[in-house]
Amino acid sequence: MIRVRPATLADAPAIARVQVATWRHTYAGMVPQDYLDRMREEVNTAAWERGIVAASRAVVVAERTAEVIGFASGGVPARDPATGAGAELDAIYVAPSLQRQGAGRLLAAAVAGHALARGAASMVVWVLAGNRVGRSFYEGLGARLLPGSGREIDFGWGSPVDEVAYLWTDLPRVALTRRSPAPS
Ligand code: ACO
Repeated sequence: MIRVRPATLADAPAIARVQVATWRHTYAGMVPQDYLDRMREEVNTAAWERGIVAASRAVVVAERTAEVIGFASGGVPARDPATGAGAELDAIYVAPSLQRQGAGRLLAAAVAGHALARGAASMVVWVLAGNRVGRSFYEGLGARLLPGSGREIDFGWGSPVDEVAYLWTDLPRVALTRRSPAPS
């Protein structure tokens, strides 16, 4: 069974492990390989420790049999006010071998619940334009492509990338989402 809970400081190394592995798996061919090769779990662990301590955004983990298999972060406000969204899903990653088992849905629901509790009515997420899995996931959860949101952005990865934004306008529906029960 997959359980989602708020991250603690002790989760930072596991979050970083999932992040580095999932980035390398997902973004090969989309993000410069040199940047992916240079990612280091220790560096990401330190960044997550700072984020969890700061508590300015929600950080949640999905675990199965006490092992962290995914994480998400986000909250209020949206980082780019131009989207008009009240909240933003900043990041969501599930270990490659454990995807499509409902963890992502539960993680998105937890961040949406956090945003709702802080008064947001809508939530935006930015995704690499070429990330078909991520885009299908957001579409599957009811987000709509934000018209005109396509942008080229330089994150300092070695070359700029193209992103698009998706918007949820029915946050209660996302927050209350649960994986369909397995057929008996
Ligand atoms: N193809 C089509 N639809 C999909 C796919 C896919 N590969 N994966 C998920 N979906 C849709 C489906 O509608 C699915 O429902 P269903 O299984 O009942 O049909 C629904 O999304 C929920 O799927 P989950 O099993 O909950 O999703 P998962 O646990 O795999 O997590 C996630 C989704 C986080 C996108 C995961 O696949 C992942 O980590 N991908 C690689 C990293 C990534 O792209 N992260 C997002 C980057 S953008 C950002 O972080 C802001």
